[in-house]
Amino acid sequence: MALSGTIQDALNEHINQEFQSSYLYLSMSAYYESINLPGFAHWMRVQSQEEYGHSMNLFDFVNDRQGRVMLQPISQPTLEFQSPLEVMQQSLGHERQVSQLIHRLYEVAVQEEDYPTQVHLQWFITEQVEEEKVASNIVEQLKMIGSKGDALLLLDRELGARSAVPADCRAPLRMASQPSS
Ligand SMILES: [Fe+2]
Ligand SMILES: [Fe+2]
Repeated sequence: MALSGTIQDALNEHINQEFQSSYLYLSMSAYYESINLPGFAHWMRVQSQEEYGHSMNLFDFVNDRQGRVMLQPISQPTLEFQSPLEVMQQSLGHERQVSQLIHRLYEVAVQEEDYPTQVHLQWFITEQVEEEKVASNIVEQLKMIGSKGDALLLLDRELGARSAVPADCRAPLRMASQPSS
C-alpha cells in the first residue's frame, strides 16, 4: 500500500520537526558548554543525535513505502537560556509538544486507514513517554539542587556518563520494538 499524499505530507512535516528538535538540543548543548557543565552538554549532544535518529527513521519509512522525502528548512533554535534548570524545563515543554504532534500524526494515519503507518508510529508514542519521564526527572532533580554547587557538579558527572547513540543510529530503531532510551 503506497502512501497517500496526506500521510506523505504529514510524515515529511514530522521529519522536519525531529530535525528541529535535534537542532534545539544541540543549541542547548552549546549553552551548557558555555557555562562549564560538560556532563549536561554531553547529555544534550547525545539527545540531539537521538532526535536525528528519529528523523532518519521516518526518512527510511517514507522511502520504504515508495513515498518521496521532501526536506524543509530548519529554523534557528533558541540561543540563550537563564539557567541549567530553564534549559531542562524548555526541553520538557518541547517534548510534550512533540508528543502531541505524534498523537495528531497517528490520528491522520487512522483517518487515512494507513495501518503500516499506525504500527510504525506506535514506537514513537512509547518513546515519547520515556522522553517526558527522563526530562521531568532531571527538572525535579535540578529543583532539589537549587543553588547547591556541589550537588550540581555531581549531577553533571552522572549525565556525562550517558552512552552515545551508535553511529548507524537508525539500525536499532528499525529493529527494536521497544525504545532503548
Ligand atoms: Fe524525537
Ligand atoms: Fe529517547
